[in-house]
Formats: sequence, C-alpha cells, structure tokens
Amino acid sequence: MSFVVAIDGPAAAGKGTLARRIAEAYGFHHLDTGLTYRATAKALLDAGLPLDDEGVAEEVARDIDLSGLDRAVLARHEIGEAASKVAVMTPVRRALVEAQRRFAAKAPGTVLDGRDIGTVVCPAAPVKLYVTASPEVRARRRYDEIVAGGGTADYAAVFADVKTRDARDMGRADSPLRPAADAHLLDTSEMSIEAAFSAAKSIIDAALKQ
Ligand code: DC
Repeated sequence: MSFVVAIDGPAAAGKGTLARRIAEAYGFHHLDTGLTYRATAKALLDAGLPLDDEGVAEEVARDIDLSGLDRAVLARHEIGEAASKVAVMTPVRRALVEAQRRFAAKAPGTVLDGRDIGTVVCPAAPVKLYVTASPEVRARRRYDEIVAGGGTADYAAVFADVKTRDARDMGRADSPLRPAADAHLLDTSEMSIEAAFSAAKSIIDAALKQ
C-alpha cells in the first residue's frame, strides 16, 4: 500500500518546490507529471514527428521512461508549448496516466504533482492539495527565475504566457485543471515556501494518523 499526496495547480504556483520538500521530508517518491507530457513532446520534436497526430503521439507516450525524466533537459519554452498541445490528446493522456498510476503505487508513499492528479490520476489519494497564486505573482516568479538563471525576459510577455497557459490548462475538454472537491486550497501568493510546507505538513500528518 502506498500513501499518495496529490498536488495540482496552475503553472508557476510553487507546486514543484512544495512537492519536492514533502517527498524529502517523508521519504516518498516524487513524480512531476508535467515532465511526462514534456518528454512526450520532446521525443516528437527530436524525431521530427508531427505534434497533431494522436496515434503517433500515443505511441511515443507509451515509450516514455519515468525514471529518466530531467527537468533541466525538458525546461525549454518550446517544449512546454508543445507539451500543452499533446496534453489535450485523450490517447496521450490515457497512456501517461497509466504510467503515473503505476508510479503512484510505489511504497511507502508518493507525491505526484500536475494538473489532474486529485481529479483523475489518483482520485482516492488521502491528501489532495490545490496550490495556486495570482497570475501576477506567478508571472513575477517565472520572470525572476529566468533572470536569476542569466536569461533575459520581458515581464509583460511572461504574464501573457501565464494567462495563455492557464486558459489552455483550464479550458481543455479532457481532464481540465480544477481543484478536486475534497482538495485543500493553498494560495501561495503571499506565502513563503516554508509557510506552504508547514501548512501541507499539518494536513499530511493528520491524514497519516487516520
Ligand atoms: O507543469 P508543466 O509546465 O511542466 O506542464 C507541461 C504541460 O503539461 C502543461 O501544458 C500542462 C500539461 N500537464 C497536464 O496536462 N497534466 C498534468 N498532470 C501535468 C501537466
């Protein structure tokens, strides 16, 4: 039996950092499910395959190795864009969700973060967190991240990108981003990562006692 912590939320809300902190504190396995969509997109791009053929994309998705996912390799903006296109395809989602569910079953526990973990991938998870922050705060964080990494960015462009990403993630027909009915909402707009972790820890500790 595995104890699952399901974390969902929009891009740049801080769910990745929170998920890693939780996994480390509890000795749980962590999967950033966004990377499975990114890896599928990158494999298609690298092979020069079309991004709009569901059959081809599904085959590629079935071959993704969850143990070899590296955010550094998959971070590129162009990969994120392509990922959000393959993420609307039901056959791709079906293939990746199967792999994500196998991962979720690992003992002693797992933390999965994404857009549909509490609603679709692990609807029976004992802990569901919906991590969010205002679009302005998320755009500012993304902007600061790019600049800190030595890159150049335009805040208005980053903000527009956050809004486009939200619309695509929340507006798609299959598994749109939304909080599960029983999810705990964590708005990190004015919260440090420490404060968010401490709130999450109280929720997880209470669930572990049951
Ligand atoms: O979180 P991210 O930017 O790495 O996610 C990449 C894309 O994959 C993004 O458009 C949302 C999508 N995604 C999804 O549809 N379902 C998930 N569980 C995780 C990510």
